[in-house]
Amino acid sequence: MLHVLSHTSHLTIPHLKKSSTFANMKVLVTGGTGYIGSHTVVELQQKGFEVVIADNLVNSYRETVDRIAKITGKCPAFEHIDLTDKHLVDQIFAKYSDIQHIIHFAALKAVGESVQQPLKYYHNNINALINILESMRKYAVKNLVFSSSCTVYGQPDVLPVTETSPIQPALSPYGHTKQICEEIITNTTAISNFNAVLLRYFNPVGAHPSALIGEFPIGAPNNLMPCITQSAIGKRPELKVFGNDYNTPDGTAIRDYIHVVDLAQSHVAALERFIGEQNTKKLEIYNIGTGNGFSVLEIIHSFEKVSGKKLNYQIVERRAGDIEKIWADTSLANRELQWKAQSGIDEMMASAWRWEQALSAPNVLR
Ligand code: UD1
Repeated sequence: MLHVLSHTSHLTIPHLKKSSTFANMKVLVTGGTGYIGSHTVVELQQKGFEVVIADNLVNSYRETVDRIAKITGKCPAFEHIDLTDKHLVDQIFAKYSDIQHIIHFAALKAVGESVQQPLKYYHNNINALINILESMRKYAVKNLVFSSSCTVYGQPDVLPVTETSPIQPALSPYGHTKQICEEIITNTTAISNFNAVLLRYFNPVGAHPSALIGEFPIGAPNNLMPCITQSAIGKRPELKVFGNDYNTPDGTAIRDYIHVVDLAQSHVAALERFIGEQNTKKLEIYNIGTGNGFSVLEIIHSFEKVSGKKLNYQIVERRAGDIEKIWADTSLANRELQWKAQSGIDEMMASAWRWEQALSAPNVLR
């Protein structure tokens, strides 16, 4: 039995919105072939939105577009561009002059690499955002959803963490770019008629139930979920658990893991809020998690249960830069976005495992 450390089930959640269609509403999704981006494009298309993906494919595959089409029956428009090229960004806005909303995922996100190559991270993540904001102004596109991260909170003093918790100094250039981007958007909305939503993601895991899209780390993964599935399938000899001397019930670190499909749906909810003109401020910020904290060992045990695979893991030293524990207060997103994560941890593990198995089948993404 998994131990739920904190949960939001006592909250009164408004009825989730009924499915509706948004035919002819065009959304530019940057990074739309990436892990979270691809799942969001699926959810958007299933709601009837018209999607244009802009992606430079440095960390994703063109074939994902075909897979999105296979799931949804509709092929999104795809533009292979580098968003740090201002001229090319302008061209996208000129070509699709009916874009109404932007969801900006495209960013470099490897924490370790960002420490080694900080300028690459600052250049890419910040310039891409500035170019998008400048084109939004030029082409009078008003609504932006930005992928932020719970990394901005560092180790919070009080749990669960709310959106008003203090921002801590970033532990890596990657985390710093998220903070800087949040500030750029905050300052821009303050003096313009833009609306923006910052979604602070907790730890996305799992994959689409079709097992056609999922997380596809290029090179050795760092995040827990692909490390688990890769060691279960034999791609890596063992799983390392980073530290069991934390001040937590079983000594391993605690995170708020959220199914990527639930996370994707929060973006649709954010657009629905723009469309319904329900946003009360030009800049709104939401924690996107489940409200539940799970330790590394609880995740391992859930995975072993649903997969029937025994993981070969060993406890090693803490990983530098890791925080001890964090989980979200999601009540603001539940109330204002009328969104709530639905999947439990077992379902997250099962879908991640199906995806890893699908990756081992012939004709996988290359
Ligand atoms: C990391 C990033 C965060 C980013 C997030 C999503 C850091 C410090 N933070 O978060 O900025 O937004 O990924 O991409 O890297 N673990 C193991 N063994 C492993 C891998 C992980 O025990 O092989 C543990 C970690 O120590 C941690 C937990 O699993 O306690 C989750 O780790 P991970 O998936 O890397 O996410 P975060 O570190 O929370």
